[in-house]
This record gives sequence, C-alpha cells and structure tokens, in this order.
Amino acid sequence: MIDIHSHILPEMDDGPETIEEAIEIARLAAADGTKTIFATPHMAETNEFATATCVSESVRELQKAIDAQGITLNVAPGVEVYPSDDVLRAVDAGLPVKLASSNYLLLDCPLNIIPMGFEQLVFSLQTRGITPILAHPERSVVIQEKPQILEPLVSRGMLVQCNASSILGIHGRQAEETMMLFLQHKWVHFVASDAHSAGRRRPRLSEAVDTLLNLVGSEMTQELAWHNGQRILNGEKVPSQPLAYSPKTRRNWLHKLIASRRGKYSENKLESNVCS
Ligand SMILES: [Fe+2]
Repeated sequence: MIDIHSHILPEMDDGPETIEEAIEIARLAAADGTKTIFATPHMAETNEFATATCVSESVRELQKAIDAQGITLNVAPGVEVYPSDDVLRAVDAGLPVKLASSNYLLLDCPLNIIPMGFEQLVFSLQTRGITPILAHPERSVVIQEKPQILEPLVSRGMLVQCNASSILGIHGRQAEETMMLFLQHKWVHFVASDAHSAGRRRPRLSEAVDTLLNLVGSEMTQELAWHNGQRILNGEKVPSQPLAYSPKTRRNWLHKLIASRRGKYSENKLESNVCS
C-alpha cells in the first residue's frame, strides 16, 4: 500500500517527539503492508512554509534510521498545508510544499470551518498546474452537514483523501457515513492513515482496506490504497470520474453499510467461537 498522509517525522508537528517513536510508527506501517509512506507535517503560515526545505533532510535521516533497523519502508517528503493565501505565496516562492516531486499538494481540511476563499484557492492552485488533494473532508462537521458543497470542487478536478480511521468508525458515525457517501459518488481518490503516533493514531490501512473490499470491491480499493499513490510517485495523472450528487444514494448506501456491518459482526463472532 501507499500511504500519502502521515505525521511520521520527529519534532516537526504534533507527530512523534523522538526518532525512536518515528521508527516505531514506521515499523507498524511496514508490518501493516505499507510500502511507501509520505511524511506530511502540518504547515499553516509563511514562517512554517519556510521550513518545508527541512522536510527532505528529515526524511533522509528517518530513512537512514529505518534502513538501519531492517524495516522495509520508503519515506517520501510532503507537507499538509493549511488553506490560506500563504500557500500561494509558498508555491510562488518555489518552496517544496508539494508531495515529493509531483504536482500534487495535500490541503488540510479544517474540522469546523471552510476557510474564506477556499474555492478560489483551489482554482488558483489549479491554474498554477497543481492538483490539490483535500485531506479528510469527511471529518469536517460543515461538510458532514452539507456534503454537496464538495461537488463543484471535485467535478473541476480537486482530489479527495479520506482517512482509514474514518471508515473504521473511529471518528464517529457522521464521519463514517460521510466517507461512505463520498465513496458511492466516486469522490474519494486515496485512503491514507493520517498517522500521528504508534498508539491511538497509528498507521492502520490494512483494516480499512478489508472494509473497503467489502464495500466497493477490489478494483476501487486498489485504486485508493495502491495505484493512485503510485501515480503520484510516478508523476502521472490520477483519474477522476466523480458522479453528480444525489441524496438518494445516501439511503441506499446506508443499507449496504448495515449489511456490511452485520457481516463483520458475524465474522467476529465466528472468530471468537473458534478461539474459545
Ligand atoms: Fe494530517
């Protein structure tokens, strides 16, 4: 799997505080089946964007430490940028805020507001040849209440990354259902961990992949967890064919979710019977 969103670099943001913790996250990600993980520390303001040049150096140091431990995991540089005009200033100044050497940029989605001028920012990035990837919009309470506000953005080429933890219900029912809705509308292009630690917010993609296989099938799951991430690494275009918003699909999807959960629960029951 390729994980395009994580906070694995030590001493950069609210991720790990030490290199040892970062190695532990890497160990968990590799054991979970991740081959490449993008290190995407939060950056919000001009003075933080100036430190984007440090990300590659920090990635190199972490990669060396991971290799020394015999952990098979590639780390790629990136940034999770907070949407503001400072992003455009950073891009225009040539600061390395995109994902590796691609023209994709991971845009943070605030949980409680849609920042002023957000739509304009997306279009301004696109006119500079950059494709924004909106991180975890399913967690935004504003978007949970009115998911159709994403429609004009995805229909004009913005991509969407949802968190593995959302489909597992870790951020609550609203986030889970909103991700379901996005999946049904083909508004999701990546599933990523947004890992922050080796504890509660650890990288756990494989569990989400199992759930996605059940819900959307093998082809779409592979696009979300493997192929589209690989396209970023290769500098290729990520395909996108979003459907028009339809509130009816929400009901249909919920039925599928309930059926899927029943399957999961009966499997768990089966496993516990086998163990006992
Ligand atoms: Fe994040």
